[in-house]
Amino acid sequence: MKVFEKNGHKIIWGEALEALATIKDNSVDLIFADPPYNIGKKFVDIPDQWASDGSYLNWGYKWLEVCIKKLKNTGTMYVMTATQNMPYFDIFLRAKLTILSRIVWYYDSSSVQARKYFGSLYEPILHCVKDENDYTFNANDILVEARTGAVRKLIDYRKPVPTIYNSKKVPGNVWHISRVRYRMDEYENHPTQKPVALLERIIKASSNEGDTVVDPFSGSFTTSCVAKQLKRKSIGIEINEDYVKIGLRRLQIATQFNGAPLRRELKTYELPVDEKQTTFTLFEKKAKWNTSLQRRSKAL
Ligand SMILES: C[S@@+](CC[C@H](N)C(=O)[O-])C[C@H]1O[C@@H](n2cnc3c(N)ncnc32)[C@H](O)[C@@H]1O
Repeated sequence: MKVFEKNGHKIIWGEALEALATIKDNSVDLIFADPPYNIGKKFVDIPDQWASDGSYLNWGYKWLEVCIKKLKNTGTMYVMTATQNMPYFDIFLRAKLTILSRIVWYYDSSSVQARKYFGSLYEPILHCVKDENDYTFNANDILVEARTGAVRKLIDYRKPVPTIYNSKKVPGNVWHISRVRYRMDEYENHPTQKPVALLERIIKASSNEGDTVVDPFSGSFTTSCVAKQLKRKSIGIEINEDYVKIGLRRLQIATQFNGAPLRRELKTYELPVDEKQTTFTLFEKKAKWNTSLQRRSKAL
């Protein structure tokens, strides 16, 4: 385990359970937990695949239990997992916390285009608190446009004094926020990067300036990054070296790692022309190599 720290932002490069153990109990204001979903993604060399559903859930119950211990009594936790696992996390968590909202984050593009079934275009998020009578919820910081009535400047005649409909409202539990796409500025090379807009809403709603925000599975470190922008403190945990490097760069904790500069990977359309050609040539060579392998294995 290795710790990097600068100006109230800490990155722990290590295993979530071990790293969480280093955080004081009852000290965290907000936890955003977006673990591997057990759906076969590839986090560099860490497979997102458990031997059985049961072993994934048992692992989940362990880190959820520890996260609860780390939360202050006024603390809030948001938890994500795959749709098929969420009912189990929900049952586990509602025996220990109050689940205030079951949020559906939906988007209109999927990485897999389903043709023989209805493709998955949403991910569930649980919003839980330790004390339902004492928790942070900054409703005024996350208001969205209220479409009904307000846009058309309708007047509500049911009120004692006729009033124009509110033009702003607290978002409901269905959030339409675009997934992070390759061409977006915020894109990082991580297969399940969460959008800044999603974390902005969560961190603004459920913490205040100076509060401590923890993310036990930081990935591309969106949580810590947004926490920094919003003047919160952050602790981000991640097991994978490549993603820790993204975090060190995004949080401006370091400019170098093992002597090599930390730079954002250029997108294909940003590469100088000669490098583009090299990438293309490599790609072509690989394709030729695969074809000749196929031919040879057919011949055998
Ligand atoms: C779903 S991704 C998180 C994505 C992140 N929310 C973002 O916005 O980029 C889960 C991350 O957990 C990391 N991970 C997997 N097992 C871990 C473990 N036991 N301890 C710490 N990190 C782990 C993976 O490397 C992966 O980056």
